[in-house]
Amino acid sequence: MPSLQEKIQEMLGGISTGSAMGLDLGSHSIKVCEVSGSRGKWRLDRFAMIPLSEAAIIEDEFQKPEEIVEAIQAGLRTAGIKSKNVALGLYGQNTMTKRMSVPDGTKEEIQDHIMWESEQYIPFGADESEVDFHIIGETEGGGKDTLVVAARTDLVERFQDLMKEAKLQVKVVDLNVLALANLFAETAVVANPEFDEGSILIDYGAQSIKIIIYRNGGPIFTKELPVGCSLITEEIQRQMSVSYEEAEDLKISQDENGNLPEEILAIIMSQLEGQISEIKKNLNFYISAGSTEQVKHCFIVGGGSRLGILKETLSRTLNMEVEHFNPFEYGLKCSSGALEDNADLISSVGCVAIGLGLRA
Ligand SMILES: Nc1ncnc2c1ncn2[C@@H]1O[C@H](COP(=O)(O)OP(=O)(O)OP(=O)(O)O)[C@@H](O)[C@H]1O
Ligand SMILES: [Mg+2]
Repeated sequence: MPSLQEKIQEMLGGISTGSAMGLDLGSHSIKVCEVSGSRGKWRLDRFAMIPLSEAAIIEDEFQKPEEIVEAIQAGLRTAGIKSKNVALGLYGQNTMTKRMSVPDGTKEEIQDHIMWESEQYIPFGADESEVDFHIIGETEGGGKDTLVVAARTDLVERFQDLMKEAKLQVKVVDLNVLALANLFAETAVVANPEFDEGSILIDYGAQSIKIIIYRNGGPIFTKELPVGCSLITEEIQRQMSVSYEEAEDLKISQDENGNLPEEILAIIMSQLEGQISEIKKNLNFYISAGSTEQVKHCFIVGGGSRLGILKETLSRTLNMEVEHFNPFEYGLKCSSGALEDNADLISSVGCVAIGLGLRA
C-alpha cells in the first residue's frame, strides 16, 4: 500500500520547488495565505478569506465545485498570491491521526509495524486509505514515538480533482488538525514551553468542531465532531423564519460589549450547550482532576470563537480557563499594515491556513 507521502509524490510528478500557499477549504469560507520565515520567526505575508454560499461544501463533499474554484481564485487575487503551489489540508470523518509507540528499527521496519497494525485502528478501512507517519521522538522504553496519519484514498482524490480544476498544484498534503497543531507548536510552544506539557486546542468551525490535545512535541489526540456554528444559524433561521443570510447576520449582531438580543442569545445558548457537552465528553479523561493525563491549558480558534459567550460557557463547563489562541501574540508577524489591522479576525479564522502555509 503506498503511503500518503508516496501517493502525494505520485500526484506531484516533478513539480517545481518554491513557495506554496496554505489553503483551508472551510465550509463557511475559504482561506488562503502565504507565510515566510522559520520557527519562532514566522511572518504572514498575504491572507484572504472568501465566503462560500450555504451548502457549497457539506462535510467533505464539494457540492458546488465551480463556486469553490471561483472562491479560491478570488482569494488568490484578493491576497495577491501568484504561486500555483498549494499546501492543502484534508479534514473530516475520513481522516484520522494516532499517536503510537512502536519498537525501534529501520524506517522500513517501523513502517511495516504501523501498516500491520493499521487494520485495527483505521475506522474507514486501511485498504482504502493512504497512511503516513512522522517520528516525533524516542519513547522511554527505547522505541519510537510516532504520529500516524491516514486519509481515505477517495477523499485524497476528491481534493486532488478540485485542485486540478482550480489549476493549482498540490505540493503538500496535510490534515487541518495537524496544521493547527503545527502553528501552535511553532508559535505558542516556542514562546511558552509549558504548553508542551498539555494543551487543548479547539477549532470551533461552521460544520465541525476540531479538538486537539497537544503534548510532548505533537498531538496525542485529535477528534472532529460533526457539529458547529451552522447548526446555530439553521436554528435561528427556523425559529425566526428568516433566510440563511439574515440568520447569519442575527447571529453575529452582538454589540461592542458582546451582547446579543435576548431571543437570539437563547437560541445560541440552547445549541451551544449541546455542542459543548459533546466536547466535554471527549475531553473528560484529560480534564478530570487527578487524572494522570490532566491538561492545564485550553485555547479556542475558529469563527465560533468570535461568539462572545463561547469562551465563558466553555470555561464554565470544562471547569478550566479558556483563552483565544492568537499566534500574533506568540511571535507571528504581519508584513503589512493592512494585515495587522485585521490581525484579530485572522487569528480566529486563519490559523488552519497559516499552519498549512508553514508547511509550504
Ligand atoms: N463575529 C462572529 N460572531 C459569531 N459567529 C461568527 C462570527 N464570525 C464568524 N462566525 C461564525 O463562524 C463560522 C465560520 O467559522 P470558520 O471560518 O472557522 O468556519 P469554516 O472554517 O469555514 O468551517 P469548518 O471548519 O467547519 O469547515 C460561521 O458559522 C460564522 O457564522
Ligand atoms: Mg475551519
